Amino acid sequence: MDFEASSWAESMSTMFSFLFFGFTILFSLFSLLLYVLRLKPWCNCDVCKAYLSSSWTKDFSNLCDWYTHLLRKSPTATIHVHVLGNIITANPENVEYMLKTRFDNYPKGKPFAAILGDLLGKGIFNVDGDSWKFQRKMASLELGSVSIRHYAFDLVTTEIRSRLTPLLSSVAGKGETLDFQDVFRRFSFDTICRFSFGLDPGCLQLSLPISKFAMAFDTASHLSAKRALTASPIVWKIKRFLNVGSEKELREAIKMVNELAEGVINQRRKEGFADGNDLLSRFMASIDDDRYLRDIVISFLLAGRDTVASGLTSFFWLLSQNPEVESMIREESDRVMGGPSHHHQQDQLPRFEQMREMHYLNAAVHESLRLFPPVQFDSKFAQEDDILPDGTFVKKGTRVTYHQYAMGRMEQIWGPDALEFKPERWIKNGVFVPENSFKYPVFHGGFRVCLGKEMALVEIKCVVLAIIRAFDTRVVDPNQVPKFSPGLTATVRGGLPVMVRERSA
Ligand code: HEM
Repeated sequence: MDFEASSWAESMSTMFSFLFFGFTILFSLFSLLLYVLRLKPWCNCDVCKAYLSSSWTKDFSNLCDWYTHLLRKSPTATIHVHVLGNIITANPENVEYMLKTRFDNYPKGKPFAAILGDLLGKGIFNVDGDSWKFQRKMASLELGSVSIRHYAFDLVTTEIRSRLTPLLSSVAGKGETLDFQDVFRRFSFDTICRFSFGLDPGCLQLSLPISKFAMAFDTASHLSAKRALTASPIVWKIKRFLNVGSEKELREAIKMVNELAEGVINQRRKEGFADGNDLLSRFMASIDDDRYLRDIVISFLLAGRDTVASGLTSFFWLLSQNPEVESMIREESDRVMGGPSHHHQQDQLPRFEQMREMHYLNAAVHESLRLFPPVQFDSKFAQEDDILPDGTFVKKGTRVTYHQYAMGRMEQIWGPDALEFKPERWIKNGVFVPENSFKYPVFHGGFRVCLGKEMALVEIKCVVLAIIRAFDTRVVDPNQVPKFSPGLTATVRGGLPVMVRERSA
């Protein structure tokens, strides 16, 4: 009797599993069909044909360069890649409309939230609506405070003094190469972890150790971004459901990130957070939910890590092509911080007030970010049917992307010398003059403008000064044109190998 009951239960369970899997597969196929129908895969226009056949790769090294070419040719500076269901614009009026005027109609949207949801949870970077408003208000208050600015400045200068400069000195003149992209990623990871968490992963120590946390975080952000490249979201969702392949790896990496974050939060609860200057300690004063705290802090890690490293990498590549800009920065810094007698000193860091006097340096950094924005494009999903200021019709649910990389190269915005690296374009009567953020949305614009802009600029400028005042650098292959790997932030394939020597007086 027992045997009969258990074999009946077994066959019921097998039947149930079959039904369940059958239903899942049918549902997935149906969703895939709907998705494919929406995208118009049969579109025969030139852009879609070139996209589908990858024929654009014959003329361009990077997808962003091909899009730039198309946007520069388009009379409205907007294109529609029908097979991707994606409108792409480099038109400042459209950008202002999306990011400010009709902000409510252009949220990040569910597709984006799903892609990064497992890693970022309900963190500021990944949410819309009330949850975003709450975090934005809280974070703006904290990041606007004088005390956190000093804290960030101290962190950055300490990391340079105790790790970056000694590392460069250790290889200087020995004929060894350093991959600057890797060095800057280590630098910015140490800095952003200490800023957000009060935790020092020590990635930039002299031995350049492998940090398990940095590796897990890299894997998690890389594989999350890779989800966006699958033919349809259903593909990665099925893989996630079955816990196979890259989704299995992603789950393990996220688990590791979570364990570390939870460990830090628990310890902080035990030891007290009232005296902490990092963001976590500050947020703990008003949030009790540890999962929510974890989400908020992880968003900052993602936002503040690769962006700064990417900005620094392209800066040094551009400098290798434009040595006269390096000379100008050196001259300006000599004027403000002291001349050649100071060059041999290990400490080439400016005081906070001195940095504000260096208008040319500020211009050079903005100019570099114009040509090589760390976030090359940014997408929103239309809530309702709409018409953009240039007349483009947007159907509800369409992905609308504004393309920072292309915008930095538009003659309509920057004039006929748009492709040249000219810091002078930012200076009027010897003073740095910022550009309208909808023409230059490198840090986004409107209501969701980057919260770490000031910190990022301080980091980049301090690193630039510390390196070029004390060292001469030579990019090993100056003819290498940057080729980018797909991802959330611009990363150069093969990095940026550089030779370093102590600067002669
Ligand atoms: C050169 C460096 C940086 C660049 C180019 C940059 C650029 C951007 C861009 C384009 C966005 C909008 C992204 C989107 O909505 O999808 C953004 C948002 C954000 N950034 Fe940055 N960022 C940089 C550094 C930083 C740093 C160092 C931090 C942290 C201290 C930071 C914190 C944030 C946060 C929290 C947001 C989300 C704001 C919101 O959604 O309201 N960023 N940033």
